[in-house]
Amino acid sequence: MLSYRFREGVHVAFGESVVVTTPYATRLNSIQQSLHIDRPTDSLKILLRDLLDSGVSREHISCLDDSLSANTEHLELLGKLEYFYTKGLLSVEIIGLEGPAISLNPVKSLLHRKTAPEGDYRIRFSRFVSVQPLVDGLQVTSPLSSATVRLKDQRLFPILMQLVSECDEDSIKEALPNDLRVHYADIASLLLSSDVAGVCDDQGVADVDQEAIEAGWTTEDLAFHCHTRGQMIDLCRHRSILASNDKKQLPAKHQRIILCTAALPVPSRINHNLSFFQVVRERKTIRTYQEQPVTAAVLSDFLWHSMHIREEILCDPGLSRAYSGLLRPVASAGALHSIELYLCINRCIGLQTGFYHYDSCNHSLGKLSDLGEPCLQMLDLAAASTCRAPQVASVSPGLGQRPDVLVVMSSRYGRNASLHQQTGLSYALILKDVGAIYQQLYLVATALGLAPCGLSFGSSELFEQASGLSSRLECSVGEFMIGNPLSMDGYGLRAGSDLRP
Ligand SMILES: Cc1cc2nc3c(=O)[nH]c(=O)nc-3n(C[C@H](O)[C@H](O)[C@H](O)COP(=O)(O)O)c2cc1C
Repeated sequence: MLSYRFREGVHVAFGESVVVTTPYATRLNSIQQSLHIDRPTDSLKILLRDLLDSGVSREHISCLDDSLSANTEHLELLGKLEYFYTKGLLSVEIIGLEGPAISLNPVKSLLHRKTAPEGDYRIRFSRFVSVQPLVDGLQVTSPLSSATVRLKDQRLFPILMQLVSECDEDSIKEALPNDLRVHYADIASLLLSSDVAGVCDDQGVADVDQEAIEAGWTTEDLAFHCHTRGQMIDLCRHRSILASNDKKQLPAKHQRIILCTAALPVPSRINHNLSFFQVVRERKTIRTYQEQPVTAAVLSDFLWHSMHIREEILCDPGLSRAYSGLLRPVASAGALHSIELYLCINRCIGLQTGFYHYDSCNHSLGKLSDLGEPCLQMLDLAAASTCRAPQVASVSPGLGQRPDVLVVMSSRYGRNASLHQQTGLSYALILKDVGAIYQQLYLVATALGLAPCGLSFGSSELFEQASGLSSRLECSVGEFMIGNPLSMDGYGLRAGSDLRP
């Protein structure tokens, strides 16, 4: 038997008209979508109540009202059922002799009913599916799917292995227990409609996967993208995450326990005669350094104009979610500024080598340790990763130069989570903040005549060892190198020296 029921989170208010409130809401302000049905017939009201309570089978609809002899009302009810299905409001369950066997549970507010094609065809799971064990079975899901599929009857578990590769109709039927074989068409429709499986082309690629595979998406990137860029969210999923976590606010300003403080010279007013547009025009990546190291004075300017705290502010005042934010020269989503700067100082005139935290409130450096093994490894990783850059393809990894200073950006994830756990955007916004900081560091370094280079490779493990912090609390999310630039002919470069009109 195949049975429909309203999915979790659907509410129905009965009155002269009926309002069906859905669990789907906009991410921005949690406004739930609802459907209004004017002047519903009595049969429709019965259908709605049954969908809320015991569930409805297709056959059941014809018995809702004895007076349903006229086919039109029967068809109307079927039409309404289909409408709720396409709006992602109905869970569908196939029940065999041993109870519930397999179900489809929508997670998006749009679902297309699909059926297996006529003739010869093969179907398989999407390459992007994952399987999660739950108390009532195994849940199959994919970032691309509009619904999850739950295998509830253990006798169906073998089809998990089978559908990893292409299967024709006969081989799937053979894998089904006898009592479920008669439901083959419904089971195939349930797998295809959810998009956890698709019909294969000649190369064995499921139709649901074709564009993602062609573009080269990895499962992880696709999951991250779909999770953070969808406009609508399923409130049930997000609320259950929230309920399990009563988040405390982390303070906006971050103090570290340090060995000693290294005062930085008072930041100067930059006087390099470079206009903003000249800086923008001149900005470029430089990965080779002069003999002469950077100075504490220039490093001080670099940090001040990039990341010092201008002001602490109260964000969303008057609302229950009011929180303290920061203003810095660089922008940050929600003024959260969860990113902290750490410096591996390899060589710098006026400062000891070592691993430092930038105290962006007091504009000073707090020394955490000498340059130990993890820091040296971070510097080597940075040097080696410059050899993958397009302009220096011929340089061997051993030839990359260690920067004078390696800036490591870490994020206090909890700052973003306190505001964005519900929207699911915490990590996506952290990475966007990192991008803003990269550009800020590039522009300020250019204005100061430094050699800037953003990096793609970094190690959260090495940062964890160097900082002594659990990466669950504070994790490295970006790296940036600076030094004094060396021109291609071996001479030192100065800001503005390469100016073209
Ligand atoms: C996010 C990001 C990551 C980067 N990763 C590296 C890297 O790992 N190694 C490197 O040498 N350059 C890296 N770069 C610098 C780019 O290679 C450089 O921006 C690009 O080649 C264009 O050159 P330009 O900056 O001089 O315009 C990175 C830049 C950015 C913004």
